[in-house]
Amino acid sequence: MNVLVTGGAGYIGSHTVLELLNEGHEVIVIDNLSNSSKEALRRVQEITGKEVIFYKEDLLNKQQVDKIFINHSIDSVIHFAGYKAVGESVAEPLMYYDNNITGTIYLCEAMKKHGVKNIVFSSSATVYGDPHKVPITEDFPLSATNPYGRTKLFIEYILKDLHVADESWNIALLRYFNPVGAHKSGQIGEDPNDIPNNLMPYVSQVAVGKLKELAIFGDDYPTHDGTGVRDYIHVVDLAIGHLKALKKLNSNPGLAVYNLGTGKGSSVLDMVKAFEKASGKKIPYKIAPRRPGDIAECYADPSKAEKELNWTATRGIEEMCEDTWRWQSKNPNGYKN
Ligand code: NAD
Ligand code: UFG
Repeated sequence: MNVLVTGGAGYIGSHTVLELLNEGHEVIVIDNLSNSSKEALRRVQEITGKEVIFYKEDLLNKQQVDKIFINHSIDSVIHFAGYKAVGESVAEPLMYYDNNITGTIYLCEAMKKHGVKNIVFSSSATVYGDPHKVPITEDFPLSATNPYGRTKLFIEYILKDLHVADESWNIALLRYFNPVGAHKSGQIGEDPNDIPNNLMPYVSQVAVGKLKELAIFGDDYPTHDGTGVRDYIHVVDLAIGHLKALKKLNSNPGLAVYNLGTGKGSSVLDMVKAFEKASGKKIPYKIAPRRPGDIAECYADPSKAEKELNWTATRGIEEMCEDTWRWQSKNPNGYKN
């Protein structure tokens, strides 16, 4: 299959491109490199021994997006491209609405024009807001607490409306829980631009000596040890979930929504301990106030994806930490040398 991957140079995108190539697909990537490096794709090609067709382009550049569809006979699209930092979205809402929503509209317009109607979209567990209970199933009420989350929610509605208007569209909305880890090679992984916002890149930068200590945001949540509980999912399991979703789209399912998580919740302290074990490094930490907007507990019921996609996450937190550490210790400065 010829698969167009938007945001394919990014963290989840590069891992997905690698799995697509390994499965024998032709991959075309469009990425403006606003939060990624071309080096990731060079390494993906090195690991797989296969070529990626790469366009350094912005999704907001309508003509260029159209050209890609003219140049290639595309069967399906996996749409990762977007901004993802919650705090930045609060400070720069227009930038987030424009990039994430306008980018998606332009992409869908080009798809419509060229008769490409299969799309897998990167949604997020953030669309469940503060869930009334856990585990979370796909039919839980949706809400958003920040502009980033609202872009995911709006895009879900845009894609749902597109399917209502034309039932020949096949759309998979994949709601990711907390992606972590890296490819086994240690050659590709998560490479945040500045000081990481998310737990695992922060912890791994403390382990490698780039940051002094971790601040744990709250130890008074109603969880087993008082720290926040999340469903961490290995990025390779997540990438494989996209291949399964693509396969599903070929059976004309219409619109389908799936949680991609492990179904297991781990606390901040569980992750710190697992990372210390995997790396052999002590992670100094202090308890800090809760981070505004954080919820106590969030984990998936992934049984729908298991049943309908024949997908299940197989990698546990030990492996997530070992793989993160291999990537971080081999590449202390990420892709920047
Ligand atoms: P990432 O920032 O590493 O990847 C996104 C990629 O999109 C980057 O390479 C960036 O350069 C590119 N991009 C952004 N705007 C673009 C534009 N206008 N035109 C072309 N390229 C553009 O992020 P990621 O962690 O790989 O996330 C991928 C997707 O998954 C995002 O949509 C994100 O919101 C979603 N998601 C991520 C997480 C997470 O915790 N990582 C959780 C849930 C959902
Ligand atoms: N945490 C700390 N210290 C840190 C960073 C995080 O204690 O320095 C804690 C948080 O309070 C939370 C847990 O670690 O309890 C996980 O936090 P992350 O920032 O790694 O992840 P979140 O669950 O807050 O959010 C992530 C993405 C969102 C996405 C959401 C659901 O950042 O974009 O998962 O998919 F919407």
